[in-house]
Amino acid sequence: MNLNDCYNFDDFRKLAKKNLPAPIFHYIDGGADDETTLKRNTESFLKCDLVPNILASVGEPDLSTSVFGQKIDMPLFLSPSAMQRLYHHDGDKASARAAEKFGTFYSMSTMATSSIEEIANISGGPKMFQLYIHKDQGLTDNLIDRCKSSGFKAMCLTVDTVVAGNRERDHRWGFTTPPKLTLKSLLSFATHPKWAFNYLTHEKFQLANVSHWTKKGSSIAKGVMEYINEQYDPAMSWKDAEYVVKKWGGPFALKGVMSVEDAKRAVEIGASAIMLSNHGGRQLDGSRSPFDQLPAIADAVGGKIEIILDGGVRRGTHVLKALSLGATACSFGKGFLFALGAGGQKGVEQILQRMRDEIRRDMILLGCKSIKELNKTKIVYR
Ligand code: LAC
Repeated sequence: MNLNDCYNFDDFRKLAKKNLPAPIFHYIDGGADDETTLKRNTESFLKCDLVPNILASVGEPDLSTSVFGQKIDMPLFLSPSAMQRLYHHDGDKASARAAEKFGTFYSMSTMATSSIEEIANISGGPKMFQLYIHKDQGLTDNLIDRCKSSGFKAMCLTVDTVVAGNRERDHRWGFTTPPKLTLKSLLSFATHPKWAFNYLTHEKFQLANVSHWTKKGSSIAKGVMEYINEQYDPAMSWKDAEYVVKKWGGPFALKGVMSVEDAKRAVEIGASAIMLSNHGGRQLDGSRSPFDQLPAIADAVGGKIEIILDGGVRRGTHVLKALSLGATACSFGKGFLFALGAGGQKGVEQILQRMRDEIRRDMILLGCKSIKELNKTKIVYR
């Protein structure tokens, strides 16, 4: 199997599974506890159907939309995701370059393996930074200041990960950052010599945005759950979010909003967007899927704040369903991370190309000339 055989999410996932050592594959693929929320994130899209209108004279549909005060060429962008260097030696650089080519957002995690400055240097495309509030306030300020001077367009604050979710696959495989050879993982690293060779012969792994602040996770191996529990502030509150809104002063999203009440409060504190997300099913298992929660959120705050649906997106039709129910745009994590593991920048470009083709084709079939024409009349629940 190679990149040419990859038509959809499942294909990229299969190829990534073949390429990557098991602890790394399972870190991307896994969720919390019994992974019920992880599965439901995608299954939820099946609860309703699209209803096309015929003879709509669509011609070439306009897939562009605007989010964070930025026009993007397609209504889907890359979610912030940690440690991309593990999936391919070009890591975040590959993702940022691919997103730029497709005229959409690349998002950088606080736990990225390239620095804010490095990515600003190689990509002129729209960039969002994802902030984790560490216990050390100085680090938060440092990250915000650097994003400002590096021309990042938007920022999001992750609010659903004040403690780490129970990711049993990571326990089982002994996943650490940076990866550590243990008896359990040794065989898996040894049977992926190409990955191991590339890992060892390219740029050294580091959590490039925080390594000047803490060595843990960059040169001292740590379990990811351990890292989160030790470094992030579990007492994070609305006050902290307000602080970031003010200090950043630009387009801003709370990432991980799920309740109507919190969505309303996000409007009140001056956020310009919310990312409706359960962290890809990696945090609170048994929590509702973003897609199931979308209609209530859109009813409450639609028009007052941008709503980004993040969770379970695998197909162009998923994006169209979300937009029809009131989302401004969608983002996906696993969707592009497997493609990165499958083929680096080429892989990410290929999944973006497939998704753009699907969205375009499905808009024509649905009878929609532009994103604005997507609304509730296009959807019927079963
Ligand atoms: C995760 C954190 C690091 O989901 O975002 O693994």
